[in-house]
Amino acid sequence: MADKEMLLGLSLSEAYGLHPGAWRVAAREAYTDVDVFVQAAERAEQGGMDFLFVPDRVFLHEDLTYGPPFFTMDPLMVLSAVAYTTDCIGLVTSASTSFHEPYTIARQFRALDVMSHGRAGWNAIPSYEPDAFANHGMPVPPREKKYERLHEAIQITQALWGSWRREAGQPDKTSGRFADMRHIRPINLQGNQVGSRGPLQIPPSEQGQPVIFMPFASGASLDAAARYADGVVAMPRTPDEGRQQVELMRSLVEQAGRDADDVKVFPFMQFSLGVTERDAIEHRMVLDRAAGVDDLVPQLAAVLGITIDDVDTPLSDAQIAALTPHPHSPRTTRIIELATQGLTPREILAWGVISRGGFDSANPGMIGSPEQAADMIEEWMHAGAGDGLTVVLSDVQHDLPLFVEHVVPILRQRGLRPEGYLGSTLRDHLGLKEQLGLDPRISSQDNA
Ligand SMILES: Cc1cc2nc3c(=O)[nH]c(=O)nc-3n(C[C@H](O)[C@H](O)[C@H](O)COP(=O)(O)O)c2cc1C
Repeated sequence: MADKEMLLGLSLSEAYGLHPGAWRVAAREAYTDVDVFVQAAERAEQGGMDFLFVPDRVFLHEDLTYGPPFFTMDPLMVLSAVAYTTDCIGLVTSASTSFHEPYTIARQFRALDVMSHGRAGWNAIPSYEPDAFANHGMPVPPREKKYERLHEAIQITQALWGSWRREAGQPDKTSGRFADMRHIRPINLQGNQVGSRGPLQIPPSEQGQPVIFMPFASGASLDAAARYADGVVAMPRTPDEGRQQVELMRSLVEQAGRDADDVKVFPFMQFSLGVTERDAIEHRMVLDRAAGVDDLVPQLAAVLGITIDDVDTPLSDAQIAALTPHPHSPRTTRIIELATQGLTPREILAWGVISRGGFDSANPGMIGSPEQAADMIEEWMHAGAGDGLTVVLSDVQHDLPLFVEHVVPILRQRGLRPEGYLGSTLRDHLGLKEQLGLDPRISSQDNA
């Protein structure tokens, strides 16, 4: 990776997109049609994107009356279909250390890694929602127990990945020796909460073992990420906050005894694209109509301090003259700017100025042309807000072709992205060294 170059991941949940209207304008039913997910992955690969990031929750996360579930049917199942039809793009997904035994995690991710020829990544997360624990018949554990289990689960998983060494060799039909069992050994690790004897029954992949991702969350989560993570997904709201998170992460990684460069940080960034800025806004209005903007109108009225009777009539001169920006809310300033330009409330809402909460409010976002998207990306990368970013799209079927065919070429012209894949494994893309088993710099400090 050249100095100025950045990495690019694509976050894919159910493959419709983050906007609540996306499922209604989608040409195909994404949630239950794995082809839609596979085609999105192929498209991202055509754009040379480094990895897919598939978040997951193990409970029904939302009211389905007006929209689909936010997560895939099952990420490992879906990614094994993707592994089969793609060649280069990395395949990263979440699996909770709160429920799965490390042996199961080690086995499933190693299988995905071998099937994809070295492209798997595990986003190692502890669960925190009571609904997720209820689905497993468990009470929510105290925080320190949750993180104790996370540490043990990651260390045992990595040890299992290292239980089959490369020295075990390849099957040799001539001699009749399948593998050298001296290099496929038990690990015999038992923690307070989880344990495993091993060894694993699957050999290493082309990249050794899967890449470990972790979220930039609380202090306990950061301490764990500093020890184990190769990739960190983050949700800063500004480039400056992003830079501070990167600096903190790098220093924690060094304190944990690793090199600062061993970890790559990926802020999430949300895009609503059009060939021109006007096209992007027009498409947002299509999505807003599909989602119904009625629920957002009272909030917009409250921010502006007016009554909105008709979403398609611009504000009157008297209303505009009475608007006063809130000193601590850049959002209000932006809304007033748009209203002053003569936009209707519907057009103002299309700018995404009122979020629907949850994930939508967590992501910094842009609505505009490919050139504007590239400008924002360049600004964030220039500020040192990440080693790359994880792209979140408002409407995958509409925005992904635009991102791949228009934004990526501009990033290439600006020297921010390579022309194509330089290697074939996820570790190659991320510039990471091979790892097989626990990192000796970490395992020498303590053991599960
Ligand atoms: C960027 C990011 C991505 C995350 N992805 C997932 C996920 O896919 N599945 C999940 O259950 N939790 C996910 N989480 C939640 C974290 O695992 C963590 O439990 C949560 O942030 C609460 O942190 P705490 O328990 O350290 O307070 C994510 C968090 C962040 C910040």
